Amino acid sequence: MSQSFFSADIGETDPLIADALGCEKRRQQGQIELIASENIVSRAVLDALGHEITNKTLEGYPGNRFHGGAEFVDIIEQAAIDRARSVFECEYVNVQPHSGTQANQAVFFSLLQPGDRVMSLDLAAGGHLSHGARPNLSGRWFDIQHYGVDPVSGLIDYDRMADKAREFKPKLLIAGGSAYPREIDFHRMREVADSVGALFLVDMAHFAGLVAAGVHPSPIELADIVTCTTTKTMRGPRGGLILSRDDSWRKKLQSAIFPGVQGSLHTQIIAAKAVCLGEAMTEEFRQYGA
Ligand SMILES: Cc1ncc(COP(=O)(O)O)c(C=O)c1O
Repeated sequence: MSQSFFSADIGETDPLIADALGCEKRRQQGQIELIASENIVSRAVLDALGHEITNKTLEGYPGNRFHGGAEFVDIIEQAAIDRARSVFECEYVNVQPHSGTQANQAVFFSLLQPGDRVMSLDLAAGGHLSHGARPNLSGRWFDIQHYGVDPVSGLIDYDRMADKAREFKPKLLIAGGSAYPREIDFHRMREVADSVGALFLVDMAHFAGLVAAGVHPSPIELADIVTCTTTKTMRGPRGGLILSRDDSWRKKLQSAIFPGVQGSLHTQIIAAKAVCLGEAMTEEFRQYGA
């Protein structure tokens, strides 16, 4: 293979893709993006995403890999874990989920058996596909019932949720959604979960950055497990996190991600997650980032 294969830039080697990338950058710079879940990452996050670390294949977790040459990725992944632990004030962190959907899938994989009952916010009321929508794996493998919102106020109807939970007896209750713009009453949902012996998962994909910045209540102390994306308000790369205040979930959740639903880690994404979590620890992020 010629030396230029490795050193030529994309404009020389692939004009079609280079052009489209250039146009996309200009589109982002020239239009106001009104999609609430989109955000703009820092140069430092982009640097990590485009780094040669992407060449490295690794499975497992820091200090316990199946391939050699892990010493630098171990530093990076451990930094991402430690930073997430500090930002979200939790005990357990897994930074490997390739997406928010896969973070949720790993939680299901570790807590549930096929056919188990799950309750989540209705898609039509702002829920997310990965919380049991029919075309999603979660909707195919589990017995799903949804709670909804009051048709007049548009707020989650917690009384109806509690009644429904008493009848349905879910093993897992999920809070969070894609298009529910109000604060969720985590205390109330914990009570509902406890009243039927359910586990409580909070998917904070949309407001994780607000929690990190300390301007939104944190679900960490009330949920058994919390998932989120590192995009959206976190201003990071495309990917997910799994968090818990309770380290006793570690064994189940570690193996649910690898080898449960994923293989090797996306090393460049882990590096970018570490950078964005580092940014989330700064005063600047607390003031402006979220
Ligand atoms: C609440 C919620 N959970 C999970 C996800 C899934 O994230 P991903 O697109 O990374 O799978 C989203 C995406 O928008 C979301 O809104």
